[in-house]
Amino acid sequence: MNLKDLYINFFVSKGHKQIPSAPVVPENDPSVLFNTAGMQPLIPYLMGQSHPYGTRLTDYQKCVRTNDLDNIGDSYHHTFFEMLGNWSLGDYFKKEAITWSFEFLTKVLNIPVERLAVTVFAGNDLIPFDQESHDLWLSLGIPEERIARTTEDNFWIAGETGPCGSDTEMFYWRSNDPIPKKFDTEDVRWVEIWNDVFMQFNKDENGVITDLPKKNVDTGMGVERTTAILEGVNDNYQSSIWKPVISLIEEISGLPYENNEKSMRIIADHLRTAVFILADPAGIKPSNTDQGYILRRLIRRAIRHAKKLNIDINSDWEQQIASKLMDQYEVYYSELKDNRQVVLEGLTNEKVKFNRTLEKGLREFEKVTRDNQDIDGVTAFHLFDTYGFPIELTEELAKEKGLNVDIEGYKTKFKEHQELSRTASAGKFKGGLAGNSEVETKYHTATHLLNAALKKVIGPTVHQMGSNITDERMRFDFSCDHKLSDEEKKQAEDLVNGWIQEGLEVKRLEMPKQEAIDSGAECMFIEKYPDIVSVYVIGDGVSKELCGGPHVNNTKEIGKFKIVKEEASSQGVRRIKAVIEEE
Ligand code: ALA
Repeated sequence: MNLKDLYINFFVSKGHKQIPSAPVVPENDPSVLFNTAGMQPLIPYLMGQSHPYGTRLTDYQKCVRTNDLDNIGDSYHHTFFEMLGNWSLGDYFKKEAITWSFEFLTKVLNIPVERLAVTVFAGNDLIPFDQESHDLWLSLGIPEERIARTTEDNFWIAGETGPCGSDTEMFYWRSNDPIPKKFDTEDVRWVEIWNDVFMQFNKDENGVITDLPKKNVDTGMGVERTTAILEGVNDNYQSSIWKPVISLIEEISGLPYENNEKSMRIIADHLRTAVFILADPAGIKPSNTDQGYILRRLIRRAIRHAKKLNIDINSDWEQQIASKLMDQYEVYYSELKDNRQVVLEGLTNEKVKFNRTLEKGLREFEKVTRDNQDIDGVTAFHLFDTYGFPIELTEELAKEKGLNVDIEGYKTKFKEHQELSRTASAGKFKGGLAGNSEVETKYHTATHLLNAALKKVIGPTVHQMGSNITDERMRFDFSCDHKLSDEEKKQAEDLVNGWIQEGLEVKRLEMPKQEAIDSGAECMFIEKYPDIVSVYVIGDGVSKELCGGPHVNNTKEIGKFKIVKEEASSQGVRRIKAVIEEE
């Protein structure tokens, strides 16, 4: 049995209910692009809401972390990974959590106690030393010198705010060297395998810590790392999780893994993440914003490394690799089965797009760096605009040659271009500058109009719960307790199209946050905004929303608005998918 099954079975035997993995793109939390930990989709429940499955939960959660893309290529970083977890929502606390962690490690995974060490919270001004966890570990058989006390590393929070608490981490001696008696947390041969967080606080934006209504447990174990450990390999990519895909890349490229590790790991890692993003119900496609941009970067970077291995880019190499990955994971994630075609098409379309200009772009890159000069902003923008090189790709290529890229200059150029395309779309400047961002800008404004229309048709209780825009469609989640009737949909659609035809002016104002709220401006997460906010006003009171933009200057620019689907998103939340068509 593999690790995932062993874990879930164990916690089910301890009275936990298995919950399905949430999508990688959070459904109603626009503050993050992807789920980065098992606890993320559970935040409302850790904050006190009751969970339909009860108070003991377990799962394997798909996570995506793309903040350290540069590290991919080493033996243990991944942009996508699975996190195993068990939760107590106001149910058990330290005793059970630690006892079960120990039992699972030593009895189910059969890890000898000699290879284990733990850390516990040492205490600070606010929270005392975690004596209870310390004593529990001791009573289970972890010797005193293998229990380290730290402060910084033993307090867990996802980002800056939210549910948090002290934790205890478990480490495994991953080396054939003799095991030192004393646990030194700086010794990299000790690798962290599991984290039990005792979540009893909430931290707000001002750094103020308050008690949560209930004491919870949140744990997390990385599947990739633990599997590698259990199989006795030091390189995660040599474990049974990665072996099939690495072997396939060896076969396709005709090259051995040895000496080609970096590119092979990047291809395997990036394509796996791309597969999961493409298969996600959020319907993300490669684009120049948000999740779509990450997806684009991953695919393009994988392609470039495939080129480095002399893989024939025009062959179906990416389809072969993606298919292998989907075969491997579809038993656990049915969306891979349902969306197989979507994934394959998404990858290949992006490849074809990039491929058209990749060769020329690489030649251009060689040309502009032929005298080993740094890359200025204008050149970096040119590589992006004309050859589709994400700025990070230009940076990576430059780094390989020991050159710098003027990122600030690039950003300035990028902004100028955006302004220009907005002007162009307003018809003041007829140029061929249309791009994705222009279409997405139209969708942004259409989103505000739809929000206003739904309030008129259904009532003022409608609030935006989430939105997602690509250059092909918009998706809008809103609070509403019933399925919309055909009549309601038509009314909303007609209102939006009416406002578009009226050619309403879209104005951007800046004002103090409180003033904006007092004047009745719509906003989703007030905490997220700075003290001075930008507010977009459409027409004479049609819509007023806190928003960073960008938006069109006049609703006429949008085109024809059409609702294509209305469905349930989650309890009390409906989802509308809509498109805009050129008129
Ligand atoms: N949420 C905790 C972590 O990610 C368990 O380590």
